[in-house]
Amino acid sequence: MWLKRDDCTGLAFGGNKTRKLEYLLGDARQKGATGIVTFGAVQSNHARQTAAACARVGLPCDLVLTDAVDRRTELYRAGGNRLLDDIFGATVHLVADDEGAVIRAGELADEDPGRYFIDPGGSSPIGALGYVDAAAELVGQLEAAAVTPLELVLASSTGGTAAGLIVGLSRAGFDLPVTAAAVYADGARTAATIERLVLDTAALLGSQVEPASGIGSWTVDGDALGEGYGIETVASHAALLTLARTEGVLLDPVYTAKAFARLLERLPDLDPAGDIVFLHTGGQPGVFAYADAFT
Ligand SMILES: Cc1ncc(COP(=O)(O)O)c(C=O)c1O
Repeated sequence: MWLKRDDCTGLAFGGNKTRKLEYLLGDARQKGATGIVTFGAVQSNHARQTAAACARVGLPCDLVLTDAVDRRTELYRAGGNRLLDDIFGATVHLVADDEGAVIRAGELADEDPGRYFIDPGGSSPIGALGYVDAAAELVGQLEAAAVTPLELVLASSTGGTAAGLIVGLSRAGFDLPVTAAAVYADGARTAATIERLVLDTAALLGSQVEPASGIGSWTVDGDALGEGYGIETVASHAALLTLARTEGVLLDPVYTAKAFARLLERLPDLDPAGDIVFLHTGGQPGVFAYADAFT
């Protein structure tokens, strides 16, 4: 098993949003944006990385955070990613639900029409371009190591990471099926989200994706989610501890531990001679928000 370490992308404890933000903030600056607004849950990794990226390029950052996860501890409310949002100088707007987020976003747009809005998770076709690049990088690394893996496994919520990889692998003509473990919504909803983003990202690049040819094929694993977004499962908790205590590698409770737990469950059914790549998408500040689960 190989780990592609996108938890080491450098910006604010790393994670998959660094690659998306490279394109999104580039677009914002090209359009002369006066500030950035984005969305997420209270412990959003995307929000934390956006706050840091805005600090880096000198743009004010407004984060509209939805109190969607039923976790009422002080650690969850104020620690982990949420603490880092403040340290990176973002302005946080806490709202009760999606409806509240839409209203607050409207107010922020009215206040200053120059603000640039980034979709939740940075998952627009422009954001997904970061993972089109990542696919090319991964193909280069696999070719250099003479490894032809059976599949590429990752956690998926807003879909941009998986979509960018699917388009990128397809463009590279590299036959590596992608398995996206749904950790935010159910399998069908996650698949629909990825499908739309694959088409829109390919269209932005003027390229075709034809999974029927085998290259660019992908599936969604709908068995990772458990009771819901942000709620640990017995298997995800165990998977986080297993990787920590055997490899010294830290997963996060909300995304990567759930995807990795499913991979461990599926291992007996996979060809033992085959290689697997697990994309570590980061999220580690989340462990501090879930510290009560580990004590
Ligand atoms: C740590 C981590 N892994 C995976 C994902 C999923 O990425 P995407 O939203 O592009 O599906 C996210 C973002 O939501 C994340 O923060």
